[in-house]
Amino acid sequence: MKLPLLEDLGDVRGKTVLVRTDFNVPMSGGDDARSISDDFRIRAALPTITWLTERGAKVVCASHLGRPKGQPTPKYSMAPVRARLAELAPGVGLLENLRFSPGEEANDEATVAELVQGVDMYVNDAFGAAHRAHASIVGPPRTLPSAAGRLIQREVEVVDRLRSTPKRPFVAVLGGAKVSDKLGVIDALVAMCDQLLIGGGMCFTFLAAQGHPVGDSICERDQIDRCRGLLEKHKSIMLPEDIIGVDADGVYTTFGRRLPDGAKGMDIGPGTAAAFSDAIMDARSVFWNGPMGVFEDARFAKGTRTVAQAMADTKAFTVVGGGDSAAALAQFGLDDDVDHVSTGGGASLEFLEFGDLPGLKALREAPNAR
Ligand code: 3PG
Repeated sequence: MKLPLLEDLGDVRGKTVLVRTDFNVPMSGGDDARSISDDFRIRAALPTITWLTERGAKVVCASHLGRPKGQPTPKYSMAPVRARLAELAPGVGLLENLRFSPGEEANDEATVAELVQGVDMYVNDAFGAAHRAHASIVGPPRTLPSAAGRLIQREVEVVDRLRSTPKRPFVAVLGGAKVSDKLGVIDALVAMCDQLLIGGGMCFTFLAAQGHPVGDSICERDQIDRCRGLLEKHKSIMLPEDIIGVDADGVYTTFGRRLPDGAKGMDIGPGTAAAFSDAIMDARSVFWNGPMGVFEDARFAKGTRTVAQAMADTKAFTVVGGGDSAAALAQFGLDDDVDHVSTGGGASLEFLEFGDLPGLKALREAPNAR
């Protein structure tokens, strides 16, 4: 995909450049003592920020944080992010949370006008938010010379490569809790890849679609028919053969595919983890999104750890998308051992599914790119 890049902005010296970043970082602590638990997304924007400041531009960053729904909300204030940014990139500005204004998500003209006031150029480096047609993503490129930052450039290159010329076998591993969020991408991925491995909370809706009892595990009953349709259509979908969880008395147990009444599945079992690991080791391209279980709890981390270790060990080209899978890799100290960790969860899935995103289209239609 051809996007306008930083070099296409021309001379940036003395220019005020609005950089849309995705500083939607995980936070911990209570409302009064919030701190950033992972600054990966802030560090990921530094190559773009530095490129601009080294060439004499005045950089003002803008981002959302959480989902404050158009209301100024102290717990979503950018203050902790601003403090971290000041350490990493002194002198760079950061606006208050864009989603404190209802006009951001509504893509309202007045909000766009306010954003571009006094600004000469626009750079979008918020890959994680490029699937949102919000004011700060699609508005500024309508009038300002615009470019994709280095992060978007790299993310697009990597995901484009997976979509169009993956080395085969191409294996996709999907997990996470909600199957309803991922049905579209599952449909697109099964058409693209050679094998699709499904774990995490979402596997229970698929197991239920095969007629297995799933006890009290997460299961989206209204999606069972769609999952059954996918399983009938695509023989390349592989589901867990065993599950780790707790029984009705709360006792840690390994089950087969059938979970008795009151039992709750929390992780894929050891047989499944080994089978998923083998598939990843034999692949030449792998995309992974979503943990295999509740990995924050050590009792239920083995499945995710095994997948993460296989991602690190395989010779395949490996791409990890989504905050939870990236956090799992970091927790196991394996984040440097994969080829690419995407900063965008929903964005990388939508880009895989559709091959384009509203934020990328807006950049391609900017005045300097037409
Ligand atoms: C993300 O965390 O995936 C991005 O920052 C987008 O956030 P959103 O899902 O609230 O739009």
